[in-house]
Amino acid sequence: MKISILNGPNLNMLGTRDPEHYGSDTLDDIEKLLAESFPDHELTFFQSNGEGKLVEAIHALLEGNVDGVVANFAAYTHTSVAIRDAIELLEIPIVEVHLSNIHAREKFREQTLTGSVADGIITGFGKHSYVLGVHALEKLVN
Ligand code: DQA
Repeated sequence: MKISILNGPNLNMLGTRDPEHYGSDTLDDIEKLLAESFPDHELTFFQSNGEGKLVEAIHALLEGNVDGVVANFAAYTHTSVAIRDAIELLEIPIVEVHLSNIHAREKFREQTLTGSVADGIITGFGKHSYVLGVHALEKLVN
């Protein structure tokens, strides 16, 4: 399966950013974990701090070259109508993931604009949220 792994703002700072919520692994470590966990899938990784860049990355997926998406839109999860509207264009499954449990933190993190148009959400399992996200896609695609 060809899978796009999308990451949003500030996730390039993992490793040093708020380890209590996000753990001590870097985004690079998480990408390596995914590549090692799923040698039979073709994974592509994209991270941006820009809302428009993430919208464009989703538009690029409309060309039909991947089978599914695992995405952590980070803070844009809670605010971005633009990313939400782009997700609605997708005809392939998308699983939203979060490192932290967004329901056990500040009130404003409980709302997920993007998650409400995703196929499902995995939240609170640290780096394993991404691994579980790929497993969820396997179920959705087969
Ligand atoms: C996050 C949760 C968001 O609320 C936050 O803005 C992030 C990371 C997570 O993975 O737990 O940047 O998406």
